[in-house]
Amino acid sequence: MITVEDLVKDFGPKRAVNRVSFTVQRGEILGFLGPNGAGKSTTMRMITGFFPPTEGRVVVGGHDVNEDPIPAKRLIGYLPESAPCYSDMTVHGFLAFAAEMRGLHGTAREDAIRRVVGLCFLDSVLHQSVDTLSKGFRHRTCLAQSIIHDPPVLVLDEPTDGLDPNQKHEIRQLLKRFGKDKAIIFSTHILEEVDAVCSRAIIIDRGQVVANGTPSELRARHELAGTVSLRVHGAASDVVRSRLGSLGVAGKVTVSNDAGVIVARVFPRDKTVNGELARAVAEMAAREGWRFDDLRTEEGRLDDVFRNITRPDTTARAD
Ligand SMILES: Nc1ncnc2c1ncn2[C@@H]1O[C@H](COP(=O)(O)OP(=O)(O)O)[C@@H](O)[C@H]1O
Ligand SMILES: [Mg+2]
Repeated sequence: MITVEDLVKDFGPKRAVNRVSFTVQRGEILGFLGPNGAGKSTTMRMITGFFPPTEGRVVVGGHDVNEDPIPAKRLIGYLPESAPCYSDMTVHGFLAFAAEMRGLHGTAREDAIRRVVGLCFLDSVLHQSVDTLSKGFRHRTCLAQSIIHDPPVLVLDEPTDGLDPNQKHEIRQLLKRFGKDKAIIFSTHILEEVDAVCSRAIIIDRGQVVANGTPSELRARHELAGTVSLRVHGAASDVVRSRLGSLGVAGKVTVSNDAGVIVARVFPRDKTVNGELARAVAEMAAREGWRFDDLRTEEGRLDDVFRNITRPDTTARAD
């Protein structure tokens, strides 16, 4: 549904997006991750046809967004960064305006409003003016606008930004529900959202894609991913080291000994986390008669992976 090919955006001498390519299929929820200033919003603005790319192209549902913008834009629902709404309209008035803009009139318009009001939990504020809404309601009003025409493609720029944990949870549930039959791309810098919602994630840094994979593939890039650790009481550390060394990568067992308690870590031959190595370690420990506890497999922490492959934001720099 979304094909992004070799996308480039220059702002004067500054390259904000540098040869970004990816696709999003129907039924897929792509998380777009990256530090502030990485180029997420700029990429999304080009996908939605808000401004043209310097180079490259975007195809949505078979239509080039710049050469054939109207049929492409019909397929897209867009929640821009910081969820802008017309503040002097009521929620109903704003959604009616959005519906009219999408060609929905009369009963079709009112049916569409009723549908999105239900989905986004807006009943209690329907006749309230947008400028009196709390941030969560304003955000959901803008989200409701983006889905008023039930588009097959959703482009959501930080849909959970500024919401409280309950509201974040509601939005994630909504995204998962939509994700069953739509193509969704949403940006975030909240890593737990990637696990909670995404089928795939792209990490972008300084305008370039630096990682593209499922959440578990990204976690597997962690240096400790797949390792198994345990605490052993009252055994000799060289014995523990040599026995465990036969299970994982030979010679790569780390052992620390603190007041008679050994913490050992075994590195796997392959990094897939499937419980096999943990089982083998448990069996070995039982066979050897070790007193042990806290046996666990490290799945890899996304925030460490993110930090390792992205560099600090330097957008404030003069270059
Ligand atoms: N209209 C603009 N004019 C000049 N520079 C811009 C403009 N929009 C974005 N930028 C710059 O492009 C880079 C990427 O910004 P942006 O896409 O907003 O990043 P993100 O959404 O990942 O935080 C930043 O360095 C930003 O300052
Ligand atoms: Mg942004």
